[in-house]
Amino acid sequence: MKKNQPIGIFDSGIGGLTVAKAISNLLPNESLLYFGDTEHMPYGDRSAEHIRQYSENIAEFLIAKGAKILVIACNSASSVTYQLLKDKYKGQIDVVGVISPVVDYVVSKDIKKVGIIGTKATIGSKNHEVLLKEKKSSIKVVSLATPLLAPMIEEGFFNNSISQTIINSYLSNWRLKGIQALVLACTHYPLIKKEILKYYNKRVEVIDTTEIIANAVRKSLQEQKLLHTGKRGTDHFYVSEFTESFEKTTDVFYGSQVRIEEIKL
Ligand code: DGL
Repeated sequence: MKKNQPIGIFDSGIGGLTVAKAISNLLPNESLLYFGDTEHMPYGDRSAEHIRQYSENIAEFLIAKGAKILVIACNSASSVTYQLLKDKYKGQIDVVGVISPVVDYVVSKDIKKVGIIGTKATIGSKNHEVLLKEKKSSIKVVSLATPLLAPMIEEGFFNNSISQTIINSYLSNWRLKGIQALVLACTHYPLIKKEILKYYNKRVEVIDTTEIIANAVRKSLQEQKLLHTGKRGTDHFYVSEFTESFEKTTDVFYGSQVRIEEIKL
């Protein structure tokens, strides 16, 4: 493995771009290899078996393209495939998921009651809840599936009155009453963070996981002595089905020269 190989990142669509952006900000010398499985989006409504299958195919693709580390930039996929991929590639390539790093962050803070919002697959897996309770038995965890949000964002509906209405409707659920912090357990949600903050008006800490994940990636690369300090190579963005909103979001994040390649796995 060489330091100048790219960081492989995947998600079902544009959500993982929020993680890619955070990695890019923290590690500006690293080049990125990104796969958005837009053809199968939303993962959150798919069976664990399907999500596993897609994730394994994508992991193989990214490794074949030269990735030096794999980042599962999707909570739905991390919920059902993190351990599987971690074990499968042990000794070959490290895998970073999005759940454990955020759980560690939450337990390190003085939070007594925390809300988790995510897709049906993520919330149904109970991963956050189980890990949080394992590390801090006194913590109260309320999990709420918010399945309309990821497809809404993927379609480019954010920062408008329609998205704000849907967000407000979910967040006003009585079960989230009294939380001190809310974990955005879907990598699409940083794109609606402003609207979530607006709803809470500083009463609740909104935990966006992107920087936490970027730090976990840096730590892994550091430990493996794989941090790249030389000139940054070219980033590559792949999707399984071209969508306009993916292109638009990528443009906003990385500049207009970004080329998106469609590829069927
Ligand atoms: N970005 C994915 C996640 O973090 C969810 C989107 C989807 O359902 O495909 O869970």
